[in-house]
Amino acid sequence: MCGIVGYIGARQASDVILSGLRRLEYRGYDSAGLAVIGDGGNVSVRREAGKLDGLVNMVKSDPVDGLIGIGHTRWATHGVPNRTNSHPHTSMNSRIVVVQNGIVENYLTLKEELQAEGVKFVSDTDTEVIAHLAERFYESGLDFVTSARKTLQRLQGSNAVVMLSPEHPDTLVCARLGNAGGITLGLGEGEMYIASDIPAILDYTRQIVFLENGQMSVVNQNEYVVTALDGTVLEHEVHNIPWDPVSAAKGKYRHFMQKEIAEQPQSIIDTLRGRVDFDKGTVTLPEMNLTAELANKINKIYTIACGTSYYSGLVGKFLLESIARMPTEVEYGSEFRYYDPIVDDKTAVLAITQSGETADTLSAVEQAREKGATMWSIVNAFGSQAMRSADGYIAMQTGPEIGVASTKAFTTSITDQYLLALKLGELRGVLSAERIAELVNDLALLPDMSGQVLNDEAQYEELAKLFHRVEHFLFIGRGINYPIALEGALKLKEISYIHAEGYPAGEMKHGPIALIDETMPVVAIVPQDDLYDKMISQVQQSKSRGGTVIAIATEGDTRIENEADHVIFVPKTSKYLQPIINVMPLQLLSYHIALRRGCDVDQPRNLAKSVTVE
Ligand code: F6R
Repeated sequence: MCGIVGYIGARQASDVILSGLRRLEYRGYDSAGLAVIGDGGNVSVRREAGKLDGLVNMVKSDPVDGLIGIGHTRWATHGVPNRTNSHPHTSMNSRIVVVQNGIVENYLTLKEELQAEGVKFVSDTDTEVIAHLAERFYESGLDFVTSARKTLQRLQGSNAVVMLSPEHPDTLVCARLGNAGGITLGLGEGEMYIASDIPAILDYTRQIVFLENGQMSVVNQNEYVVTALDGTVLEHEVHNIPWDPVSAAKGKYRHFMQKEIAEQPQSIIDTLRGRVDFDKGTVTLPEMNLTAELANKINKIYTIACGTSYYSGLVGKFLLESIARMPTEVEYGSEFRYYDPIVDDKTAVLAITQSGETADTLSAVEQAREKGATMWSIVNAFGSQAMRSADGYIAMQTGPEIGVASTKAFTTSITDQYLLALKLGELRGVLSAERIAELVNDLALLPDMSGQVLNDEAQYEELAKLFHRVEHFLFIGRGINYPIALEGALKLKEISYIHAEGYPAGEMKHGPIALIDETMPVVAIVPQDDLYDKMISQVQQSKSRGGTVIAIATEGDTRIENEADHVIFVPKTSKYLQPIINVMPLQLLSYHIALRRGCDVDQPRNLAKSVTVE
């Protein structure tokens, strides 16, 4: 989970940068660096692999004086975590220096283009292309800001970028592309701050500007301007972040749930960091302690979880069985203990738990362990029991989830199960290196696609206006999207108190279709996959019983508009990753319906975030 801090003003830039990066340490990282412009326009760069203390000691023994600089904590995606791959990255002639959060999806094309022109690359990162590209524009005679703008226009993917040029010691340029990497400006008196997350700069200022997707800012010591990437100056709001820590953490959002829904593109990137190498097409999960011997010995996984985490496990069953050919059962923690499940030393129990402290889940896995099972966990809360007691774990790396209704933990835990399926498939010899590389490649577009889904909140407000008085809802889906119907229904019922049921669409005719009339809207998940025609037929059956259908459908699907009453279009990804994209509209729909009903979205009645009792 990379962090960015930038500063221009009257203080020593390195002090501000190091203290800001320290505040972002909780997000996790594997290397750190900074660049400061000193007197005479010399830029000093210090970078170190490992923890921030390494960089701090480096700066202590070899200080960097200067009043403008940028810093970064990196979590590797392209290239191993070493000093050379750490940010900031400097262009060939040292005229541009860059830090970046996110993934430059088209970096290979850009790299080849630059190499053909004689540019020498020193790191394995995607970020380095940004520095060289900007320098190429700069050396063609454009000014620094225009060079930065032209460079940003060529990047694909979701990123936050900050650049400086030693020849312009009065200017920082920053930008946000897509919805993954956040970037904020902090306004001071005669000084300006830039940060990926506001905790990094809240010690210095509470006046915050949040850059939106496709916006950039040119920042000087006393002024700044927010523009579109074509240079058009944009109106923007300055938020006064109150002093209490809760409001500070909420930032510009009205509720934590809304913030956490919006954070998903970033939390997916963070989940991939350090684990996926897009160049090599490989996955590493060091904390899982997996060996080929263990992966081949295990002949069954019991996924154990509760609530939303249980539904994530149901999606994971598809992934583990289809991708890794690993038989997988999914059980509620609260029920597993009261069966007599067949568990032995060839069984792995996989606990999925955001809090890592859910009593039902923990007791169930403990019981399986006593019978000899290997215990794995996918867990968000760092240091929680589910992490401490596991033989192997995957940390969700999504940051704290505060809203009681789980959102980002759902999508990141599915992503983690996808990675686990790839790793197990590799170790069990059921996936070729080429197939793994293809499946890894599918992940690259996921953050940006999630950002696209979350872009248009207005359509959910409209639907909420129409449907917030309804007392019953039905959610239907099939195959890997059936658990998404279950999760959509759970989200709605827990925060809006509307009765909602999730059903596998094929089961409708065996009973639930009797419920359908004009008072019971049906939310149908209808992606263009191999079950499309069957889902269309369910939509038609619901319509012919007087039901109103809201469809979640694939962009470009022209047929669905004639079949359903309302359509929410989402981008198409691989069938294994599509559930992650499909659930996001359901989260937003629930959120806006609950809001209209005046419910306490973050703390719904009768519910707690961490259920530590049985
Ligand atoms: C629903 C929700 C709950 C939790 C469940 C398990 O939005 O948040 O259903 O998913 O209580 O919690 P964890 O994942 O912490 O074990």
